Amino acid sequence: MVDGSLSAKISSAPSDPIFGIVEAFRADPRPEKINLAAGVYMEEDGVTPILASVREAERRLLANSTTKLYKPIGGDPALVNMMRALIFREPGAPFGTLPPIATSGRVEVLHTPGGTGAVRLAVELVARLRPEAQIWVSDPTWPNHPQIAGAVGVRHRSHPWTTANVRELDMGALLDAIAAAAPGDAFIFHGACHNPTGIDPTSAQWSEIANAIAARGVLPILDFAYQGLGDGLVEDAASLRAFLATGCEVLVAASASKNFALYDERVGALAIVAADPAAAAAILTHAKVAIRAAWSNPPGHGGEIVAEILGDDALRAQWEGEVTAMRERINGNRRAFVDALAQAGAGDFSHLLSGRGMFSLLGLSDAQLAQLRDEQAIYLVARGRINFAGLSAVKIPIVAKAVAALLR
Ligand code: LMR
Repeated sequence: MVDGSLSAKISSAPSDPIFGIVEAFRADPRPEKINLAAGVYMEEDGVTPILASVREAERRLLANSTTKLYKPIGGDPALVNMMRALIFREPGAPFGTLPPIATSGRVEVLHTPGGTGAVRLAVELVARLRPEAQIWVSDPTWPNHPQIAGAVGVRHRSHPWTTANVRELDMGALLDAIAAAAPGDAFIFHGACHNPTGIDPTSAQWSEIANAIAARGVLPILDFAYQGLGDGLVEDAASLRAFLATGCEVLVAASASKNFALYDERVGALAIVAADPAAAAAILTHAKVAIRAAWSNPPGHGGEIVAEILGDDALRAQWEGEVTAMRERINGNRRAFVDALAQAGAGDFSHLLSGRGMFSLLGLSDAQLAQLRDEQAIYLVARGRINFAGLSAVKIPIVAKAVAALLR
């Protein structure tokens, strides 16, 4: 082997803390295996369906598309307009009626490959425009947040998200972290459905957080991967509205992976809310340079699906019903699982009932997770992050008994 070659002194990187578990699940030959790992929606039979609204949009696209030409660097203008309408829609406003902020010139929206692409672009902008900034992430958070910061070369720090018993938000610790941040630092928040704890601030707490962030001159980055799966599509943007009310800058990393179940199409958007229209236009130029050097221009098909659905009143209504159905199934599983845990003698997990979105933490150790996997073929993520969407009427008592057996 040539010294200095890629293969010299090579060692292996760790497997991904989420998709690595999915790979292990796929390789598991046991038919009774249960996948509660990756944050994907599943029906009662464990299948992640293509939404009917998506099927109809694809049928139309297949009939009407005429080209596979490159999208602009900033993406499909139709998708960009629709994502702007989705992200900034106000309570009670018809879809497409934008609040003043969205038309103020302070907002630019870019089409990205998935929510991950949007988070990556947000962090790249911080690195380019505030090279001395640190990025603060909650502990715990989605493991890709610190990984993206590391990949971009931005220093990151963490702050506690919950009290030690992982039952409620630790507002004191969060406000202390904001006070300790340097002006110009950035905080990544989960816009709704905190991943992995499911513990979201109330509207009043979001206002308190937003005021502290604005007063400190810190940039909030909202990872909005689960819009619609918490309390509703418009309700879940309470976090964003709290930040907008302060007049501060915000970056919003939105995703269509979960709420459109378009996981493999990689559709997302980064909304940039800048201090003024001139700054928004200038930041857009930097975003385009960063995109050109990363993915050049976003993949087309998924964005066309989303634009088709959101741009058609009937199709959008159908899709909103599908989002509601997904949310209600997840919440139903959450409730049934908490009951089943109590019945199985696992103790009182009623605090999980106030959680939002696909996830909560059961607070299991690595050894307990390995035992669940090896003995019961049940797969969860670190600290016992459970995806309630992966449960079913049949699986709920099985998983509850297995967890209870670990805790007794
Ligand atoms: C998850 O947290 O499981 C999902 O967001 C999938 C992913 O990209 O990690």
